[in-house]
Amino acid sequence: MPGRTFPAGFVWGAATAAYQIEGAAAEGGRTPSIWDTYAHHSGRVENGDTGDVAVDHYHRWEEDVEHLAALGVGAYRLSISWSRVIPTGRGPLNPEGVAFYRRLLEALRARGIAPWVTLYHWDLPQELEDAGGWPERATAEAFADYARAMARELGDLVEVWTTLNEPWCSAYLGYASGVHAPGRSEPAAALAAVHHLSLAHGLAAAAIRQETPGARVSVTLNLHVLRAADPSSRADRDALRRIDALGNRAFLEPMLRGRYPADLLADTRAITDWAFVRDGDLEVIRQPLDALGVNYYSTTTVRAGGGSAPAAGSAASTAADGHRPSAHGAWVGAEDVEFVPHEGPSTAMGWNIEPAGLTELLTDLHRRYGVPLVVTENGAAFDDEVTVGPDGAARVHDERRVRYLRDHVDALGAALDAGADVRGYFAWSLLDNFEWGWGYTKRFGVIRVDYDTLERIWKDSAHWYRRLVRTHALPP
Ligand code: NOJ
Repeated sequence: MPGRTFPAGFVWGAATAAYQIEGAAAEGGRTPSIWDTYAHHSGRVENGDTGDVAVDHYHRWEEDVEHLAALGVGAYRLSISWSRVIPTGRGPLNPEGVAFYRRLLEALRARGIAPWVTLYHWDLPQELEDAGGWPERATAEAFADYARAMARELGDLVEVWTTLNEPWCSAYLGYASGVHAPGRSEPAAALAAVHHLSLAHGLAAAAIRQETPGARVSVTLNLHVLRAADPSSRADRDALRRIDALGNRAFLEPMLRGRYPADLLADTRAITDWAFVRDGDLEVIRQPLDALGVNYYSTTTVRAGGGSAPAAGSAASTAADGHRPSAHGAWVGAEDVEFVPHEGPSTAMGWNIEPAGLTELLTDLHRRYGVPLVVTENGAAFDDEVTVGPDGAARVHDERRVRYLRDHVDALGAALDAGADVRGYFAWSLLDNFEWGWGYTKRFGVIRVDYDTLERIWKDSAHWYRRLVRTHALPP
C-alpha cells in the first residue's frame, strides 16, 4: 500500500539551537549568556553539565553541513548566539561572531539548504540580565537593535527569520519556576517578561522588515494541547481555561490579534496590574506573520486541585524538569491546578506520546487564526543503544524514535487533509545535544554524538528521515 505523500513545495528540515550545540563558549569574542552562568553556578543542571563544549559545532560546522546535505533536507533551523555577535548585548558588533554565521549560512546556501534563523533561543547576554533581563522593557529594545543588525549583516542569506523560540519557557521557566536560566522565582517579573518578550518580537519583526524589505518573519511557540481530566467537571474545565490563558493565549492573542485575553488579566490581578503594558505596545506586538512556528511534543491533562503542592507522582517534582508543562511554580496564579500523569507510552523525558494532539493543534490554530503554520520542532528523546554492525561500524537501531517521527508526520498529514495550511516540518534534532536542565542525559538527535570523541553516527531515524525528505512520501 503506498504511504502518505506530501505536496512538492513542503519544507522538510532539521533543527538545532546555538547553546545546545556550538560549544566554544569563550572563543571568538563570545561573552557569557544566562545559560553559561546558570549551568556553571546554579547546581540545577543534571551532572553539572554545561554548554562549554556541547557538540563542538563551532569547530565542526562544516561536517554538520555535510550531514544536512546527506540527509537531503531543504531547510535547516539554527539559532544565533546573541552574545557571540554582540558581546555586550547592546552596542558594537563582534565581526568574528558575525563571520562565523556568515560562513555557515553561505555553506548551507551552497548545498541548496535554506537557513531558517532564530534570533533568540534562550541565551540572553549576561550583561542584559544583570541590567534586569526580560522583565525590563530595555531588553526588548536591545533585542530590536540586535535583530536589525542581524538583518543588515545576514539578511541576504536568511530564508525565514524567527524572532523568539518558545517565549513561554523564557518567561515562566526562567523567571517563575526558575528551572531555566536565569533561575529566578518572581511571579510578577515572569508576567512582565511575557509582555517584554512579545514586545521584543514585535519590535524585531518591524526592524527586520525595515532593514530588509520582503524579509519573511515568524515566531515559534510551544502551545499546550490541553485536556480536562474530567470534561464534565466545571472546575476541571476552568483549570484548563486558566492554563490555556497563561500558556497559549497569552502569546497568541497579542501576536495575532493585538490584545490580551481579559481572563488572563483577571486571573493574574493579584500578581500584577500589567502596568508595564504601554499605549501602542499591542499594535507593535501584532505584526504580520509569514508563518507561525509550532513546537509539538506531547499533550497535557489538567484538573482543579486543592493546594499548591504538585500532583503526587507527577513530573512536577523533578527539579531539572525544564519542559514539562507541570514544572512546579511556572503557572503563576494557577498554582492550584494539578497536572495529571498520563498512562501509556512516553519518551525518555516522561512525556506522553500522542500524535493526534498535533493534528488537533494544527487544525485548531488554522481555524482560529488562519495563519500559515510550520512545525518548527518535533522529535523524541530515548535511551539509545549503540551496537556494532557486521561491517564493524556502529549502529543505533532507534525504532521508537522512527515510530514517533512517522506517527507525528502522519498526524501532520491528517491536518493537511483537514485543510490546515501547514508549510513545513523540522525534526528536533539534527544531533544529540545539551538538553537544558537535563544536560547531556537526554538524546533527541537523529544523529548520535559520542560525547567522548564527538563523533557523529547516523541513527536508523536519520536513514528513515532521509527517505522521507527525498521522496516526500512516508516510508512504509
Ligand atoms: C524545545 C526547545 O526549543 C529545544 O531547545 C529543546 O531541546 C526541545 N524542546 C526538547 O526539549
